[in-house]
Amino acid sequence: MNATATQLDSRDQLLVRLAESRTMTDDLFRIVRADAWYDRPIPERHRIVFYIGHLEAFDWNLIADQALGLGPAHQEFDRLFAFGIDPVGGGLPTDQPSDWPRLSEINAYDLRVRQELDGILSDRAQESASRWHYPREIILNVAIEHRLMHAETLAYMLHQLPTERKIAPQSYRPLASSEAGPPILARMIDIPAGTVTLGIPRGRESFGWDNEFEVHWVDVPAFAIDAYKATNGEFLKFMRAGGYDDQRLWSDADWAWLEEQNIRQPRFWLERQGRWFYQAMFEELPLPLDWPVYVSHAEASAYARFVGKSLPTEAQFHRAAYGTTEGVERAYPWGDAPPDVGRGTFDFQRWDPVAVGSYPGGRSAWGVEDTLGNGWEWTSSPFAPFPRFEPFPFYRGYSANFFDGKHYVMKGASPRTGACMLRRSFRNWFQAHYPFVYASFRCVSN
Ligand SMILES: [Fe+2]
Repeated sequence: MNATATQLDSRDQLLVRLAESRTMTDDLFRIVRADAWYDRPIPERHRIVFYIGHLEAFDWNLIADQALGLGPAHQEFDRLFAFGIDPVGGGLPTDQPSDWPRLSEINAYDLRVRQELDGILSDRAQESASRWHYPREIILNVAIEHRLMHAETLAYMLHQLPTERKIAPQSYRPLASSEAGPPILARMIDIPAGTVTLGIPRGRESFGWDNEFEVHWVDVPAFAIDAYKATNGEFLKFMRAGGYDDQRLWSDADWAWLEEQNIRQPRFWLERQGRWFYQAMFEELPLPLDWPVYVSHAEASAYARFVGKSLPTEAQFHRAAYGTTEGVERAYPWGDAPPDVGRGTFDFQRWDPVAVGSYPGGRSAWGVEDTLGNGWEWTSSPFAPFPRFEPFPFYRGYSANFFDGKHYVMKGASPRTGACMLRRSFRNWFQAHYPFVYASFRCVSN
């Protein structure tokens, strides 16, 4: 994967990256057993089969239809597979497997769309810049990152598919025998007051989604932050102390969600005969106490209240991850060198997290560990537009549909986040009651 994709790559580089991203999602679908294509592993989401058509339909609708004005590839499928769903507290989808086309029809559509798009994109005359209604580099970056984001969110979805309904890739190395992480001493690190840069400036030779603009600066007073992400072991103490039973630790909305859904534990945990286990992507193992705990925003917030702290704001996260004593901010927590495998667990290296503190090479200037990789980090900041936000005219709802006060910004990256999205300005977001995300957290004291 291209690790420095914030620059606008050349035409050929973009086509190589598009091909790489297709390989990534093709490989991902191969872990689904043939009899599970029409399963719905997460009740709030579409069946798996939707996504097989969606990635190609999105590319066609964006590149061929919107950007080049070439019209539909397939009247019905272009629309059927156009949009995913993200209901907040709404009803669950009720469609049946028989409501969807046969897999052979979807595969034929995918193949045709790819061939036609490749023909268009490799034909220099047809593809001349004057024909594009929007800048070609931006459109192709949107297609590539959209697909890689789905490579991650599909991993959350397939994580919930029972192990017997999927096939581990040949490269998969079982976790059961994996060694424990380095010994850690939970501690907080004092971060002095300073100014952080949020977002990126328009007009520079770099790609960002609509929500990453416009660049602006925020003063952050001094605070202290956990050196490590909260671990399964720490969260177990919260559970044993009755954290899920103590209404005072939860907001009204979060408490109502717990009651309604009967949430009693992190989604990735399993209890068997009084012992805790972890549901990893392809296997179940005794709960790894030194791995970061993956929980919803509601659960992370309750834990933070339990320990008398809070979740960091988006600006505090930036200060802890990218700030330095000299006042100059870094491109990445460790410096300006592009991401590599020694800096953290990201870019599809693994399917599951590693023990916190396993990547000293990825520490921030203050010594804060794992801010990039090993799980997104929840912030207390509702997802909202930056000053002078403008939606992409070709994808107006990408961010704007979620500026509703019910979604929260996540920063950092998970083991399944593509390298091109490790840029400082990248913002992810999810609703507070969605427990399936590879999302960790750490706390701050103000
Ligand atoms: Fe999508």
